[in-house]
Amino acid sequence: MTRNKNVYFVCVALFVFMVLADNFKPTNEILLNCGGASLDLDGRSWSTDRASNFGTGKSTMSEVAINDPAVPQIPFMTARIFESPYTYSFPVASGWIFLRLYFYAASYPGLNISDARFGVTSQSYTLLTNFSVLETTLGSKDHYVVKEYSIHIGGVTLNVTFTPSTTTINAYAFVNGIEVMSMPNIYTSTDDDVHVIVGIRSVFTIDNRAALENVYRLNVGGSNISGSRDTGMFRSWSVDASFILGTAFGAVNGGIDVNIECPPGTPSYIAPTIVFSSARLMGPNANINLSYNLTWTFSIDYGFAYLETSLL
Ligand SMILES: *[C@@H]1O[C@H](CO)[C@@H](O)[C@H](O)[C@H]1NC(C)=O
Ligand SMILES: *[C@@H]1O[C@H](CO)[C@@H](O)[C@H](O)[C@H]1NC(C)=O
Ligand SMILES: *[C@@H]1O[C@H](CO)[C@@H](O)[C@H](O)[C@H]1NC(C)=O
Ligand SMILES: *[C@@H]1O[C@H](CO)[C@@H](O)[C@H](O)[C@H]1NC(C)=O
Ligand SMILES: *[C@@H]1O[C@H](CO)[C@@H](O)[C@H](O)[C@H]1NC(C)=O
Ligand SMILES: *[C@@H]1O[C@H](CO)[C@@H](O)[C@H](O)[C@H]1NC(C)=O
Repeated sequence: MTRNKNVYFVCVALFVFMVLADNFKPTNEILLNCGGASLDLDGRSWSTDRASNFGTGKSTMSEVAINDPAVPQIPFMTARIFESPYTYSFPVASGWIFLRLYFYAASYPGLNISDARFGVTSQSYTLLTNFSVLETTLGSKDHYVVKEYSIHIGGVTLNVTFTPSTTTINAYAFVNGIEVMSMPNIYTSTDDDVHVIVGIRSVFTIDNRAALENVYRLNVGGSNISGSRDTGMFRSWSVDASFILGTAFGAVNGGIDVNIECPPGTPSYIAPTIVFSSARLMGPNANINLSYNLTWTFSIDYGFAYLETSLL
């Protein structure tokens, strides 16, 4: 994202009281299985982009050469490959959207994944620059990556442009899947919901001019939560233990019997109940809880501002 304009978003879910109610129902939802067929997964229908009229530019379709059972079939087994700039234009209703881009670091026939280096822009935002899926997934157990952005759309079109790097020989761009779905105003600042920039303690107001990238979303003290178990927004939460610095893990209070009650104005679909049923506590003994700090540590890209939001 461009450095002056955008901030990254670190979402640390902690604990809240709220009431159970219906899931969020998106008014817009586009799921593209790029280069592949139309298929259903987890009750969602992914469409082929083969004959779609969303794209402008030259592209080819490809299928991964190796089938890794640890990688979800949809949308990762097929890709659309771009050797020159390519734009998808999606019809959307104005308002906030989640844009999720799915990438699998696999070699496609005739191409070397080391050469996949590209940028992605959307509206006036630079989402990715000099991006290498291979480098991004090196050292990680998973060989795929899902990038999630929240963008406010003023008009009725969302453009997403893939541009191969011009400074690398043989560079190409690709994408395995694209998800566009309308989202509620869950991040926008209100009087009692301010976002603080990590490190400099400066308050940041999220309004329609902000675009956010989700960097981490953790279920503190709990388990992984997949998108299909979210409240209709298909966000996923990760286990937090591997992010804790040192050996001071606090005490996990799992399976808390929560009486969930939303503060006025907070929709109940803000997060699934399971997020609130686990927590990390520092213990009721002041001699002990003052003797250590509970610290989460995140690796991040240099040069950006980061926001932290907690469900408290
Ligand atoms: C892909 O490129 C990398 C870096 O240039 C090289 O080390 C590797 O051998 C290549 N792989 C294949 C299959 O050609
Ligand atoms: C989207 O792309 C189309 C075609 O390139 C262009 O005409 C339109 O102005 C773009 N819209 C936005 C919001 O960038
Ligand atoms: C892109 O990233 C590669 C590898 O990290 C680096 O060597 C190269 O200088 C970068 N290119 C630009 C234009 O930033
Ligand atoms: C949680 O998900 C991550 C990412 O897919 C995976 O590496 C990890 O093993 C999972 N952890 C548990 C406890 O399921
Ligand atoms: C530490 O213990 C004291 C005394 O019971 C308690 O008031 C305080 O809330 C505890 N602090 C934390 C962070 O749990
Ligand atoms: C906990 O962190 C605070 C603030 O960084 C620091 O002043 C304090 O010494 C730390 N306490 C321990 C026990 O490490």
